[in-house]
Amino acid sequence: MIKIKKSKQLVGLDIGSHSIKAVELKPKRGNRGFELSKIGYETLPHESIVEGVIMDSTVVIDTIHRLFERNNIKNNNVALSLSGSGVIIKKISLPYLTPEELEESILWEAKQHIAFPLDEVTIDYVILETPKVEEERKMDVLLVAVKKDKINSYRSVITQAGKNLEVIEVDAFALLNSLEINYDDYRNWRIALINIGSDLTTINVVEKGIPIFVREFAMGGNYLTQNIQKEFNLNYEEAEQLKRGMTVKEISYSDAKAVIDANLRDLKDEIDKTFAFLDSQKITKGKIEKIFLSGGTAKLTGIVDYFRDGFKVDVEVLNPFRNIDYDLKKFDPFYTVEMAPLFGIALGSALRRMGE
Ligand SMILES: Nc1ncnc2c1ncn2[C@@H]1O[C@H](COP(=O)(O)OP(=O)(O)OP(=O)(O)O)[C@@H](O)[C@H]1O
Ligand SMILES: [Mg+2]
Repeated sequence: MIKIKKSKQLVGLDIGSHSIKAVELKPKRGNRGFELSKIGYETLPHESIVEGVIMDSTVVIDTIHRLFERNNIKNNNVALSLSGSGVIIKKISLPYLTPEELEESILWEAKQHIAFPLDEVTIDYVILETPKVEEERKMDVLLVAVKKDKINSYRSVITQAGKNLEVIEVDAFALLNSLEINYDDYRNWRIALINIGSDLTTINVVEKGIPIFVREFAMGGNYLTQNIQKEFNLNYEEAEQLKRGMTVKEISYSDAKAVIDANLRDLKDEIDKTFAFLDSQKITKGKIEKIFLSGGTAKLTGIVDYFRDGFKVDVEVLNPFRNIDYDLKKFDPFYTVEMAPLFGIALGSALRRMGE
């Protein structure tokens, strides 16, 4: 009998508060990178998810369903990336332990650093640096804890949409996967990966290719939309259109520029707090050298220049398809070019494999 090997490839799913993104990759022959197999994007009605908390599960289930149907995604096995409240990422320093000893004691260590009872969270960790010198018997570990009730609420919508939740990823690490596969020289710089979505901003600081600090805060594109709404007395959709450069009720983008700039300043100030913290605590070995921007708000007109001038570092929009092959006839450039900055997390999750 012919044994059909079960596909290990997963669909990377990024359920944000503004939209759901999906990516499926196909490994190229001879382990030579990946090609794009499927891609999909669906917006969610406003406030069906708020700051990573599902408010209207029926809408989310329907949207996941539609996303797979419309884009002919047949693989039902999902790697889901999570962020926002209920995701805790902390760097801890430990006396040197062998991997076996660490495995045994990680729960006890986690207990000292995580504010939630251990039976409420799922724990994972990454060893950052193994000491080379015998005397430096100390090691740094990045602890990742995700609240089980958060996983359960997402598992529930995914299952009800007829899909299987196989792997849980967190946005910060999914972004790093995307960076790693697309920018061969990323280890040369001290990088801040900054994903600015709708409700959330995730900052992942990566030094010599190693993630050393992650912070998330509840401010993103929706903050701008709300303030534009208030300023010009518009509804949500109108303010969204204005933000994307359209003229609405005779208000043009240039009329809104002052409000947008003031909001960008707030966003920049918030990111600056993280950079100042890294400096004062000597978490990094020097200043950030490069920012990779992603998420829907990376598409805001002028944001790259604003950050480049403000932070005085090189700023580049992360292109998650830079090293990924795709058939130009098969994939709409709307996704692979226009919307590329939104797919960093979904693509990074699609790189995870079943059982890993
Ligand atoms: N062309 C554009 N100009 C300005 N803003 C844009 C543009 N396109 C999308 N956005 C904004 O990007 C945000 C959505 O980004 P994204 O899809 O990354 O968020 P999300 O993943 O759904 O949300 P979150 O991660 O915050 O939960 C919205 O605030 C939207 O208004
Ligand atoms: Mg997002």
